[in-house]
Amino acid sequence: MCGEHGNNCFVHVDSGLPPVGLKCVVNGEEIQACVDPTMTLLNFLRNELKLFGTKEGCGEGECGACTIIMNGETVNSCIILAVEADGAEILTVEGLAKDGELSILQQEFIKMDALQCGFCTPGMLMSARALLDRNPNPSEEEIKEALAGNFCRCTGYIPIIDAVKSAAKREREELK
Ligand code: FES
Ligand code: FES
Repeated sequence: MCGEHGNNCFVHVDSGLPPVGLKCVVNGEEIQACVDPTMTLLNFLRNELKLFGTKEGCGEGECGACTIIMNGETVNSCIILAVEADGAEILTVEGLAKDGELSILQQEFIKMDALQCGFCTPGMLMSARALLDRNPNPSEEEIKEALAGNFCRCTGYIPIIDAVKSAAKREREELK
């Protein structure tokens, strides 16, 4: 599949246009860079910042593997230009653990066997994180809705939903 989608692939093809300045905060760190104006945010995160946790699946905004949180909202980083993130605050899967300790959400994914092949996991975690940030006590339907844009080809959504439920409960109890 990669190779058919030009700039949405892992390897960015430089447009030859003049680079554009970009300032943003990624996982709490201030970033300043000059980027090709056609570079996707996904390629910027992976290839420039070496944050390889965010994955590329479809490269077309369909599968959710590249989901990150930008200014509090989930976005598919494969269909956003890096320059659109100018001034933004970005959270990627690398920003979930603190001081070397996995977050409750990550711990529950492990405990509930929600990882399976793991390719979709970073995107699932980011969609779940955004959900729990706006709704600490989601219903099963709300969890399904929040994860609707994240495809898991291992067909195992039940452990993923259980992990989010369990993380929500633990966060309510432990992070009061
Ligand atoms: S890789 Fe971005 S939505 Fe599939
Ligand atoms: S764990 Fe394999 S695609 Fe989701």
